[in-house]
Amino acid sequence: MKKVLSGIQPSGKLTLGNYIGALKNFVTLQDDYSCNFMVVDLHAITVPQDPANLREQSEAVAALFVAAGIDPNKSNVYMQSHVRQHAQLGWILTTLTSMGELERMTQFKDKAAGKESVGAGLFVYPSLMAADILVYNADLVPVGEDQKQHLELTRDLAGRFNSRFGEYFTLPDPYIPKVGARIMSLDDASKKMSKSNPNPGSYIALLDTPDEIRKKISRATTDSGREVRFDTEAKPEVSNLITIYSQCSGLSVAEVEQKYEGQMYGPFKKDLAEVVVSVLEPLQQRYHEIRNSGEIHDILRQGALRANEEAEKVLQDVQRMMGFLL
Ligand code: TYM
Repeated sequence: MKKVLSGIQPSGKLTLGNYIGALKNFVTLQDDYSCNFMVVDLHAITVPQDPANLREQSEAVAALFVAAGIDPNKSNVYMQSHVRQHAQLGWILTTLTSMGELERMTQFKDKAAGKESVGAGLFVYPSLMAADILVYNADLVPVGEDQKQHLELTRDLAGRFNSRFGEYFTLPDPYIPKVGARIMSLDDASKKMSKSNPNPGSYIALLDTPDEIRKKISRATTDSGREVRFDTEAKPEVSNLITIYSQCSGLSVAEVEQKYEGQMYGPFKKDLAEVVVSVLEPLQQRYHEIRNSGEIHDILRQGALRANEEAEKVLQDVQRMMGFLL
């Protein structure tokens, strides 16, 4: 069975962007692939984290995975730091990565911009992400558009290892949805929707209450026109809302356009809010049940045990091929 791996950071609140670009696809893929889905705490600490907050967010994001529909009996759900092979292979791959490659990463450039001091962890972050994927020899990696460059580096590193030490790694393919790979901010359609945006009106958090969701959508920026039409160049804000509608309702973009032909933004936004609430309300209900039951700790332990077995085999092969004494 082919393998899928992906991860989400436990920093801040997960947004509808994380859901549409990644989490929702995790759920779809689990029926056809052997899946590992992790909460990437080692990545989160590349920027300063408050320990109590990191603990809370780690548990929250793991519970959101399950609440969104990841079945822990089918897929491994675990904390990245519980599978130590990630960090070990991460170090090995760092030694195969050039400074120039890391300097070219746009996400690093964005995150480092304007900062006086930038942690070395933030710089080598992409090599650890490559290790996350390669430590299972994963075939497919469901991510949003913003992770594409990291995936390209992962493929380059896999190829480099293979040419230096012998064919071993599969070159993993990104799984980037055609619609929804980049959900934009509600207040500015030139920026991606992000949990780190200081304006909470710019994103929908998966745990926002229905009223908050309605308010945020009713205030979302549109344009001075009146057509509910998909055109990312001329109508980026409305196109973003249509994308969200399509992804939360299962209707295609064309079907959404058709449904609101001749109607103004008001009724469209009102319906959009209900469509989003209809996806998030049941998810939130499951989330609270999972948090209250305390079952997430067992799920994480079981997931890590199974992931550990897979990862250990790959790590040992790699070490042997590189000349480590085992
Ligand atoms: P992170 O935690 O920033 O985001 C998690 C996933 O959500 C996607 N995403 C979006 N998709 C569409 N629209 C948006 N506005 C949006 N915002 C975020 C991201 O593309 C991502 O798929 N480096 C990764 C985590 C990671 C990882 C991995 C992913 C670590 N190791 C191995 C895949 C495989 C990150 O910071 O994602």
